[in-house]
Amino acid sequence: MPDLNFDGHNTLYATHGLHAFAAKCPPQLVKYGLRYYSKPGEIVLDPMIGSGTTLVEARIMGRHGIGYEIDPLARLIAQVKCRVVEELCLWNAYETVVRQCLQDLAALHHQDPPQEVRDRATPPEFHNLDYWFSPEVSATLAILSHHIAETPMSNAVRDFLWITFSSLILAKKSVANARDITHSRHHHWQHPHPPNVLEKFKTRFERMSKQMAEFAELCRNVPVARAEVKPGDARHLPQEDETVDLIFTSPPYATALDYSRAHFLAVPWMQPVLGVNLEEYRSNAPIYIGSERGCIAGDFTLSDKLTSFDLAGSILCQLNQQSSHHAKLIQRYFIDMYQVLSEMERALKKQKLMLLLWCVHPSHLKSRDTNS
Ligand SMILES: C[S@@+](CC[C@H](N)C(=O)[O-])C[C@H]1O[C@@H](n2cnc3c(N)ncnc32)[C@H](O)[C@@H]1O
Repeated sequence: MPDLNFDGHNTLYATHGLHAFAAKCPPQLVKYGLRYYSKPGEIVLDPMIGSGTTLVEARIMGRHGIGYEIDPLARLIAQVKCRVVEELCLWNAYETVVRQCLQDLAALHHQDPPQEVRDRATPPEFHNLDYWFSPEVSATLAILSHHIAETPMSNAVRDFLWITFSSLILAKKSVANARDITHSRHHHWQHPHPPNVLEKFKTRFERMSKQMAEFAELCRNVPVARAEVKPGDARHLPQEDETVDLIFTSPPYATALDYSRAHFLAVPWMQPVLGVNLEEYRSNAPIYIGSERGCIAGDFTLSDKLTSFDLAGSILCQLNQQSSHHAKLIQRYFIDMYQVLSEMERALKKQKLMLLLWCVHPSHLKSRDTNS
């Protein structure tokens, strides 16, 4: 067993640092799993791909990767991270988009801006828009998103620019009036002066295009492998039986992170690429595994589906003594994950492995049987 302590290692090489994402998996762990338990040319599946760490490593190591994901923004991030795009194409598109934005901003500051410029500077409507974004920031984001959506360029380049755009909002130092935005509990924080969106876009783009160039370089010397990101629910995987050589996944935790909340400030601006408005996006929140949303009616009763799992049953009954609401949420999580595991088993070829990563705080391990 090699040393699996990656403390102090760089986890942001290649495209791994392209976009913030809550509970991202350390790439070194995926690399270890793929190196020891799969061969080049084999098929690796991640049924809950998140921001795409498994697919990036699979691509760098010449394995074909398939990832399913329920969240449209996570899918877009994952897709961009594992697809090689030439730096020159990125720069050409970036320069055209920024030139058009600067023209619009200049026109907007004239006394009587043309109607079409005012239309382009009109932000999407959503509740509390002015609380989270200052008017200057909103106008520039609206113009920028318009030109990313409308300027002719390939889809791969456009997706990259969309992710550059969302990384302005979903960042520790967001252009929104918010802090800690990559986690699900945002804190409102008013910028003393509205940030310069286009300057930040430039800084982000320069860094991200370098990261993409590093990823392209790492892919250059390995046989070309497919990296497919697909919409899908891991409880009902649209994957044929026994088609996968290895599964590597880090599932969501029970009630710990609310991805639809973590992403909600970027989603309304990105409707052209995500294909959903904020209301539709939010209405899906209860179907994310581990979500606290959605009501589970009635009192807690132990489900028939868990009767053969003594430990799960006893944990749930103890929890019910303290909070029936939490017992119901955790029971839903157990049942969901049981279904995911059954689907993974179905998709896996015989005698092949699935590797699952759940992060557990070290203090929890001291008092428990670590083998379980
Ligand atoms: C811990 S994250 C995965 C992080 C990923 N390994 C990475 O490095 O970025 C778990 C992911 O599961 C997704 N998810 C939740 N419920 C799902 C479902 N029913 N089907 C597919 N994906 C789901 C969440 O949207 C989230 O992106």
